[in-house]
Amino acid sequence: MFNRIGVIGAGAMGRGIAQLFATSGQQVLLYDTRKEAIDDALAFNRNLLQRSVAKGKLSEQDFEATMGRMQPAATLEELKDCDLVIEAIVEILEVKQKLFDQLEAIVRDDCVLATNTSSLSVTRIASSCNKPERVAGFHFFNPVPLMKIVEVVRGERTDERYIQGLVDLANTAGHFPAITPDTPGFLVNHAGRAFGTEALRILSEGIATPQQIDRILRDGPGFRMGPFELFDLTGLDVSHAVMESVYEQFYHDPRYTPSFMAAQRVAAGLLGRKTGQGFYRYENGQKIEPQEAAPETVLINRPFWLHTDDDAVRSNVHAALSAAGATLEDGNQPSDEAICLVTPLGEDCTTALIHLGLPAERTLAIDCFADWDKRRTLMRQPAARADIVAQARQALSADGVPVELINDSPGFVIQRLIASVINLGTEIAQKGIATPETLDRAIQLALGYPKGPLAFGEHYGKHRVLTALNNLQAVYGEPRYRPSPWLRRRVQLDLPLTAPDFQE
Ligand code: NAI
Repeated sequence: MFNRIGVIGAGAMGRGIAQLFATSGQQVLLYDTRKEAIDDALAFNRNLLQRSVAKGKLSEQDFEATMGRMQPAATLEELKDCDLVIEAIVEILEVKQKLFDQLEAIVRDDCVLATNTSSLSVTRIASSCNKPERVAGFHFFNPVPLMKIVEVVRGERTDERYIQGLVDLANTAGHFPAITPDTPGFLVNHAGRAFGTEALRILSEGIATPQQIDRILRDGPGFRMGPFELFDLTGLDVSHAVMESVYEQFYHDPRYTPSFMAAQRVAAGLLGRKTGQGFYRYENGQKIEPQEAAPETVLINRPFWLHTDDDAVRSNVHAALSAAGATLEDGNQPSDEAICLVTPLGEDCTTALIHLGLPAERTLAIDCFADWDKRRTLMRQPAARADIVAQARQALSADGVPVELINDSPGFVIQRLIASVINLGTEIAQKGIATPETLDRAIQLALGYPKGPLAFGEHYGKHRVLTALNNLQAVYGEPRYRPSPWLRRRVQLDLPLTAPDFQE
């Protein structure tokens, strides 16, 4: 359907889009209001492709052919024979609308106009066009050739034929087409909101440091980067603007509330790598990773008592305590000496110990969502005695696995963050923003999560996730944590989280 493709805007995105399609065999015409931008883009792509030749990944012949398929356009008029034009110019509604108006006077009636916008409404961009049915979103990720996913965004009036055409084109180029309706943040920038905003909430309540939160999330669920490393890489100004934009567009739904802390840090210029200081400090572009503080060594002279109905958790704790030479009591109630460990789901340690009638000065909590062999989370509460905390911390790390000590909160770090990711994912499925399969695949490809939100739900147990959310909502009294009906129904009916709303 699309053999001749016009790309407008030869910046970071436009040059990548041009390279992608020239590589997959389409003729590409690249236009920019600044001629030097086109020259730079072509030189950049030439350099990249030459590196592939040097590595033996691309033949000299294919290199010449690919470069030959990427041509500069001196004027917009030169795009008149294109089957598809993709714009990747500045992110300003009026400028994009004006460009599409100009293009409609140049191109054929059946030429599709696609926008690479990441935050504007495709429907609004199309609203000033004579033929809004030929306008669609085609949202790539940076760097385009390496990020093997593109969102194919269906505006309110986009013709289904063109959506299918873009899907076929993406497949030809080896990119996964994630079809999604035109909603705020589309699919990926919407689903990605939970990770960062929830981490900022945890930080702003003084529960853990950015470094602790990053370590816990790398070693537990296996995220390649923690949220604060990611903020630093992306630039907090960019991330905060996306958080604000999605929040505004969803009319202040508390699920998306951005962080006052991020706003302050942006004002202070603590943007991350690009300013040399964000949540981490950077020297010569390298992140300075603060040393993990070694806890003081203390004598363990108390037995432990554990409240859990999970045999695996009990045997893990038992093994760790044995390595420390400590005993685990097996009675229904703790002795008068015992350090009590509880394993709440979405409840804070305080609430859990009150429910169980345990002594506040001797009760601490451990996170059963953690990867026990990699990193453990120990949570204290305001009444816990310092010597009790020190003994528990030492005993639980005696086998060499690090223990993060955090302050009392519902859901620790992993439960709370993962439950938020899953809850938002299921809400996206509920709103029909993506099919369950598209959702999970898109999130893994675009955000690099080790699992998609629905697969995370099955991994940690959807019943436990729902319990955690219900308790988070009860402790905070905030609709931010209200469980999605999609999640609740599938727990109630014991169906997989990928089960559709009705069976064909
Ligand atoms: P950029 O600033 O690197 O490049 C934009 C290019 O467009 C510049 O070369 C500029 O001269 C040219 N331009 C501006 N107005 C023009 C006009 N009226 N006609 C022709 N050329 C014009 O921007 P970047 O990062 O490539 O972003 C482009 C678009 O892609 C934006 O809509 C952005 O939101 C979107 N996007 C950006 C991503 C990113 O990671 N940078 C990711 C996904 C989407």
